Amino acid sequence: MKPSEPASFSRHPTDAPEPKGSVRPVAVITGATAGIGQGIARNLADTHHIVIGGRDAGRVARMAGELPSATGFVADLAAVGTQQFDEAIAELTGRLPRVDVLVHSAGVLHRGTVAETPVPAWTESFMVNVVAVAALTRALLPALRVSQGQVLVVNSSSGLRADPTYGAYCASKFGLTAFADALREEERSTGVRVTSLYPGRTDTAMQIANVAFDGDGYDPDFYLTVESVVRAARAAIDATPDASLESVVIRPARKRT
Ligand SMILES: NC(=O)c1ccc[n+]([C@@H]2O[C@H](COP(=O)([O-])OP(=O)(O)OC[C@H]3O[C@@H](n4cnc5c(N)ncnc54)[C@H](OP(=O)(O)O)[C@@H]3O)[C@@H](O)[C@H]2O)c1
Repeated sequence: MKPSEPASFSRHPTDAPEPKGSVRPVAVITGATAGIGQGIARNLADTHHIVIGGRDAGRVARMAGELPSATGFVADLAAVGTQQFDEAIAELTGRLPRVDVLVHSAGVLHRGTVAETPVPAWTESFMVNVVAVAALTRALLPALRVSQGQVLVVNSSSGLRADPTYGAYCASKFGLTAFADALREEERSTGVRVTSLYPGRTDTAMQIANVAFDGDGYDPDFYLTVESVVRAARAAIDATPDASLESVVIRPARKRT
């Protein structure tokens, strides 16, 4: 524990009890073990108690252990709708003293034409990218209303425009756009703000796999850094209380010629 921190904060490597009497706002972040979600978790860690969402208990524990005030939420989002998933969500809501920020960053990208893409790839895309987002949001909404909190959905430029071989991904991300648009208007009177963040290509493991699918060389100079996307996310989270950044589109400034 850092000496400057209140005694109520300690390192919670996994799903240990949350700190009671916490003075820190609480941020629940899915996909916080890698890429953009991990970057947002690290950025918010100075000011927030972080709940690290991930499907691998070891990775979640390691990540939580690196932050001054963090616990874990271990769940396979593809298992949404199962009893195990419901129990994991019930356990999470039962132990959180409050929720101020909910970031949905976990996501999967399956590439292939419609002719090539098998049903399990469509199912996983929708389960992880849409249905689990709805289920977790629904479970945490009561706490978010109390705090007049913020839901940040990490979407994609694929949630605004569909391209060949991105059918399953784009369809799920278009669905995610609709989810966030509906939620935003439903919750406007409660004070819960909903942001859709639409990054373009970003230098993460997902993008490395994406470029490999196309057989192209990987040059991170043409992609957004995680830090740039995190800054955009932070702008939405730090918006003044009278304002809501509803859609944030961030794209690489340079294009490969
Ligand atoms: N990278 C880009 O170019 C780009 C561009 C636009 C939008 N996005 C979106 O940004 C978000 C983050 O992507 P990223 O680039 O940071 O990807 P990433 O580096 O591959 O990280 C994905 C994260 O999602 C988690 N995850 C995947 N499937 C899961 C499941 N079934 N249950 C629980 N967690 C699961 C992963 O957990 P594990 O550590 O267990 O694998 C990991 O933490 C995604 O929604 C993606 O669609 C990315």
